[in-house]
Amino acid sequence: MSSQDLRAVTWTAATEGDGTPSLSLIDQTALPHALERLDVTTVDQLIDAIVRLVVRGAPAIGAAGGYGVALAMAQGEREGWDRARLDAEVARVRAARPTAVNLMVCVDRVAPLIDAGPAAVLAEADAIVREDLEANHAMGAFGADWLQKRIAVSGSGDRPLRILTHCNTGALATAGWGTALGVIRELHGRGRLETVYADETRPLLQGARLTAWELAQEGIPHFVQADGAAAGTILRGEVDAAIVGADRIAANGDTANKVGTVGIALACAYAGIPFMVAAPTTTVDLATATGADIHIELRGEAEILEWAGVRTAPAASRGHNPAFDVTPASLVTALVTERGVLEVGAGETPADGLS
Ligand code: MRU
Repeated sequence: MSSQDLRAVTWTAATEGDGTPSLSLIDQTALPHALERLDVTTVDQLIDAIVRLVVRGAPAIGAAGGYGVALAMAQGEREGWDRARLDAEVARVRAARPTAVNLMVCVDRVAPLIDAGPAAVLAEADAIVREDLEANHAMGAFGADWLQKRIAVSGSGDRPLRILTHCNTGALATAGWGTALGVIRELHGRGRLETVYADETRPLLQGARLTAWELAQEGIPHFVQADGAAAGTILRGEVDAAIVGADRIAANGDTANKVGTVGIALACAYAGIPFMVAAPTTTVDLATATGADIHIELRGEAEILEWAGVRTAPAASRGHNPAFDVTPASLVTALVTERGVLEVGAGETPADGLS
């Protein structure tokens, strides 16, 4: 199967399988070695899958949260929960990870339909998936148009581009196609992509395991490089632009994304090349004024201190493991959403351009 057709999050109705409705997730912890699905039927299983990054990436977590409301309703029906218990379980899904605002946005969009019944809840969760897929294709085209024009204006002509990306923002991280990876796919489809530098993305290797896998499925030329190589590759002039996704974008354009992103933005600013953020408007949180107000998830120390379960740091060492960092708006050359491009670094804020 082409990675374009992957669906990371799908709902299986009670009429299929053993009669219990389930949420089917591509198990992203098993890639690139195995393409397997994990079917979850309970809130505990879903939260565990979100925390362990079986399902990950802001829009995919959002979709899982939307279907999570339907999952909680079905479990509550089986186990005789009262309404207070159901609301509490839905709130647990909403809080499974703190940084990607899509999770909260999607749960808050679907939960008010609980009184209308399971069919209404599922229809809304399906709509979230459909809209995300459409948004990704729209932003792919907007982003590719903007980049091609920008590179041509800089005097380099309309030549194939060398793009650096970080983490995984592809079909696996979304309802399909991808955000930053959607722009990259679009450039490739137009014959305007020379190669991709995919940062490996320590410590959980979403770049090396997932982005490289999606690119390889499509036959898109790419290098996997250590995160520490990114700044040097940019400053040597081997990259035309960096494109990344986002987990939450504040009203002023400050952008939380996978840890390591801000260093890429700084290198791009120093080198004078575009640093593009591609994200759907569901990732823009106008209620959060600046990046200082974004809750950055701190993950367990073992992810840093161990490698494949073997301790690599001295026993006395502590691990510092923020999963995300915040890139100041001034370093974001362009924010591309399904509604178009905002030149955030030049002063166009989400608060003005997307409210
Ligand atoms: O911890 P993860 O893998 O969920 O982090 C994902 C990212 O940081 C992505 O760049 C972001 O969610 C955008 S996905 C389209």
